Amino acid sequence: MKIAVVGGGSTYTPELAEGFGANAVALGIDEVALVDPAAKKLEVIGPLVRRIMRRHGSDAKVEWTTDLDRGVEGAAIVLLQLRVGGQRARIEDEAFPLECGCVGQETTGAGGLAKALRTIPVALGIADRVRELAAPGAWIVDFTNPVGMVTRALLDAGHRAIGLCNVAIGFQRRFAGLLGRAPEDVVLDHVGLNHLTWETGVRVDGRDVLPGLLDEHRDEIADEVDLPAAVFADGRVPSYYLHYFYAHDTEVERLRTAPSRGREVARIEAELWKIYEDDTLDRKPDLLSQRGGAYYSEAAVALMRSLLTRDGGVHAVNVRNRGFLPYLPDEAVIEVSARVGADITPVDAAPLGPRQRGLVAAVAAYEELGVQAAVRGGERRVYEALLAHPLVGQHDLAEGLTARLIATGRDHLPWA
Ligand code: G6P
Ligand code: MN
Repeated sequence: MKIAVVGGGSTYTPELAEGFGANAVALGIDEVALVDPAAKKLEVIGPLVRRIMRRHGSDAKVEWTTDLDRGVEGAAIVLLQLRVGGQRARIEDEAFPLECGCVGQETTGAGGLAKALRTIPVALGIADRVRELAAPGAWIVDFTNPVGMVTRALLDAGHRAIGLCNVAIGFQRRFAGLLGRAPEDVVLDHVGLNHLTWETGVRVDGRDVLPGLLDEHRDEIADEVDLPAAVFADGRVPSYYLHYFYAHDTEVERLRTAPSRGREVARIEAELWKIYEDDTLDRKPDLLSQRGGAYYSEAAVALMRSLLTRDGGVHAVNVRNRGFLPYLPDEAVIEVSARVGADITPVDAAPLGPRQRGLVAAVAAYEELGVQAAVRGGERRVYEALLAHPLVGQHDLAEGLTARLIATGRDHLPWA
């Protein structure tokens, strides 16, 4: 079975390689193709991935190429992990909204829309080649942010795609640690949209242990999500990304003087490249844990196993709503715990409350408009999406942000 990783030259790829290597036999992986436009990065990452796989005892063929068609040809699973415009574009996304007093973040608010606009056309182009050349029934597993919007665009275009994020697996591991249980024993009621989710229940042996967890560990959980415990006094634990909503103005103040995450990541990546050049290295270095992608490879490999074997495992994934959240359109893409077997079916979860539902509905409307702007282009559509975003929502802001987004992003916007 062949896996293709598009964006395979990323500094994150060794993380994935650990997961592929450890599960190569169980998953029947006999070929891994890394595809990236940056040949130089592939020259470093390719051999490193091969060494990591060998360390795990896998003799799978590892190849790397700048030729997308060659990379995806015959693949059963194509992982998308692109960053169009690299960290440089991300740094812009994080900066321009601050000029308007709005949060500057790579997936939330105007920065997230900028990323969606430049990424979705590229992802759709790649998916067309996958449809043509990959194995029959191949899956696209999308890690590319903003995952909810990219997955929606892929599904709208008729591709066989599913979106994945590590926020849920992070909670699962954290809660398992607090409970003294193995991660596999802990099943989350994970509900919302990508980067706009809540844990509404935590099931162990079928019983919801979240109320007890909150009684005992309220302060640790508050630290973890960087929000006061009052925000989840209703028993629904928001992800860290809700901090950009519930502490928006404080966060804007902090970001005005703090070094941006994009710059920080660029510094970590420069260090990683030095480490990766050591041609005896055969494992992911500790420094990689300073990136936000903890447990990505575990989440990816577990999902891949269920997609390939239809074993009915439960994973937090981005899929069409189809009535699961009755306050959203069927075509919306939601992020929920779902059973991945012959079909992909969201599992019953304790529901969101009115406060969360309102926010989810507003952001889903923004995402719908944002995907339209990405696919069809045009300043007017960008403005519409921003006006719909609950963190923007005012004419002057939407207008100012639209102008800045187009000015900074122009090089990557085919229609601008
Ligand atoms: C988490 C999110 C990802 C995001 C990452 C950013 O893992 O779930 O969607 O890409 O954080 O990490 P970084 O190290 O790039 O800031
Ligand atoms: Mn994510």
